[in-house]
Amino acid sequence: MLKHEDNERVTRVSKGTPMGDLFRRYWQPAILSGELPEKDGPPVRVRLLGENLLAFRDTDGEVGLVDALCPHRRAAMFFGRNEECGIRCAYHGWKFDRHGNCTDMPSEPVGTPLQAKVKIKAYPTVEKGGVVWTYMGPKEQQPAPPDYEWLRAPAKNRFVSKTWEDCNWLQAMEGGLDTAHSSFVHNEFIGNSNSLRNQDRSPSIEVERTDYGYYYVSTRRLLDGSNFVRLYHYVMPNQQMRSGTVKFLKGAGDEDPHAVPKIDGHLWVPVDDEHTFVYNWTCAVGDEGFPEGYVDRWESFMGRGKEDLIPGTYQLKRNLSNDYMIDRELQRTKTYSGIKGLNTQDYALQEGMGPIVDRSEEFLGTSDRAIVAMRRMLIEATKTVENGGRAPAAEPEAYRTIRPVDRILPGDVAWKDAFKSEMVARW
Ligand code: FES
Ligand SMILES: [Fe+2]
Repeated sequence: MLKHEDNERVTRVSKGTPMGDLFRRYWQPAILSGELPEKDGPPVRVRLLGENLLAFRDTDGEVGLVDALCPHRRAAMFFGRNEECGIRCAYHGWKFDRHGNCTDMPSEPVGTPLQAKVKIKAYPTVEKGGVVWTYMGPKEQQPAPPDYEWLRAPAKNRFVSKTWEDCNWLQAMEGGLDTAHSSFVHNEFIGNSNSLRNQDRSPSIEVERTDYGYYYVSTRRLLDGSNFVRLYHYVMPNQQMRSGTVKFLKGAGDEDPHAVPKIDGHLWVPVDDEHTFVYNWTCAVGDEGFPEGYVDRWESFMGRGKEDLIPGTYQLKRNLSNDYMIDRELQRTKTYSGIKGLNTQDYALQEGMGPIVDRSEEFLGTSDRAIVAMRRMLIEATKTVENGGRAPAAEPEAYRTIRPVDRILPGDVAWKDAFKSEMVARW
């Protein structure tokens, strides 16, 4: 459990809150590159850490991320013209470049000194791995650009999507870090002992702190005496990396969505206190990249394929307003949740808690070890920043060489030995 004040500390993300200020020490995804496909194309509204912003791709192909409202009389920049390396407010024509400088003020006399004085709030951006990243914190604390292994993967090996979630970022991320739940809510094979997650439903969990956060290892003892071991990374403040090389179902064929060896992960990016964009990245680890059509199959299996989204949005059609289209007959007979789509199942549980869960009311068990460790680290980190210190793991050297691992190991092989060379980035 968390005391009310600590719960507030780690969930609220606006500027000036402890967690909001911690988040503002890390590069965060602002938008997918694909949302701004062309130079001088239509701008896109962005809400991030409780701030309303506008993203546009300028004539040079660089992405600007500026205040959603014009500094003149606060008109919406969304209606502006994206032209000649700047966005021009449609109201009186003031124009701003991606750095926030006012480059034209046609409604004022020529040579007006006002032009040099007026700026629009602008955040730096960098584009990597199909994502536009931004840094919203103090200039002197700005880390080097993000450099996770998946950002260095060849484009043919990588896919990134994003999904909207109607709840606070932390309960969403806790769902990701919680490995025990996959034996339950994600159990699609009730009563089938070929399912590895059915063979042991209370994995043992070890947590090792590192420079970037921690890695944690879940071990499930299988019926034949071997161990199903998954090593995940928690990268501060809001990313998890996992490995997917072991099929859910022993003996399953290539139609199993887990048949393609991959690493994947999520970043839980706060839109504001009560909404989250989950960035989902997946990388095929083999040289050949993804097989034809695989990415669509995988995204559908996860419940976030194109057909699963409300057109023109990143919101799921199966959502709280329709109880995720739960099928009680399916739940009674075949699957634990009765809900289609692996991540949709997650959202039902996470959003069902309400916008910000009250952690003072919970009872934690041994399966929650990784979650407890993460909360502690976040509380510590917010205090470090409050006291004028540097945010942990903001610089890439903390995390650039890590890779998650999962394997089935013989019962007498220690994962530490088996994984030593596997835990290292190849790209
Ligand atoms: S409100 Fe934008 S130029 Fe006047
Ligand atoms: Fe899950």
